[in-house]
Amino acid sequence: MSETILITGANRGLGLEFTRQYAKEGNKVIACCRHIDEAKELEALQEEFSNIDIHELDITSEKAIKALQNEITQPIDLLINNAGYLESENHLGQISTESMMKNFMINAMGAFKVTEAFIDQLSKSKRKLAVAISSSMGSISENTSGGYYSYRASKAALNMLMKSLGIDLMPYGIRVLLLHPGWVKTRMGGDGAQHDPSTSVAGMRKVITNYSPKEGEVKFIRFNGEEISW
Ligand SMILES: NC(=O)c1ccc[n+]([C@@H]2O[C@H](COP(=O)([O-])OP(=O)(O)OC[C@H]3O[C@@H](n4cnc5c(N)ncnc54)[C@H](OP(=O)(O)O)[C@@H]3O)[C@@H](O)[C@H]2O)c1
Repeated sequence: MSETILITGANRGLGLEFTRQYAKEGNKVIACCRHIDEAKELEALQEEFSNIDIHELDITSEKAIKALQNEITQPIDLLINNAGYLESENHLGQISTESMMKNFMINAMGAFKVTEAFIDQLSKSKRKLAVAISSSMGSISENTSGGYYSYRASKAALNMLMKSLGIDLMPYGIRVLLLHPGWVKTRMGGDGAQHDPSTSVAGMRKVITNYSPKEGEVKFIRFNGEEISW
């Protein structure tokens, strides 16, 4: 079945790989990125797959989100809030309000505002699924090593925002899912990471396909299908 899929942060890393895999299957992919003129790999992918539409979207800009909301009026089966940011500060004494706010603006507020903007388009679709790429680093119960204050806190906030959306969007029939991609070789994950983007994305796509929560239920699931406790 061909679906319409909107992906944020589609110019590199996991977003680019999601775009590649979904486009290859014949889905229509609305691939969003901050700077189209710099998105060379995404443009090359579009030359291979004409079912990719590229749109400019900085998820921290409410004006840009509104403009895209007005432009995309068709049903969206699957929204993948993938764009994210990791501040490298890690140790006590290094954490600034500025970096904390930047992590929150991109990782938590960005995904929240994008999802809110596309409620109508999601509710008109068949699948009606809003996904956010979170991180096991946002799990409070899995935090056994400390550090990464801004990133951890922003992903925990993302989890809470999406959990509330899962309840509030019940009347629209929209379901919500939080995913952890594993530790993946991207610019964020680094070369020493455990998994290739293709393996991680294939795993997350399988989780997305099989996702069947109860009404109002929101799950936090690893790319290999294991459920993560909050
Ligand atoms: N890689 C891992 O090991 C790992 C582990 C757990 C969770 N994750 C999560 O997986 C997601 C994808 O990460 P990745 O590994 O693919 O990272 P990445 O290679 O660093 O890519 C991040 C993407 O987010 C985009 N982005 C950042 N700020 C944005 C903004 N304000 N508006 C729109 N797009 C923005 C970037 O665009 P620009 O090119 O314009 O900067 C880029 O496309 C993130 O949410 C991340 O937190 C990754």
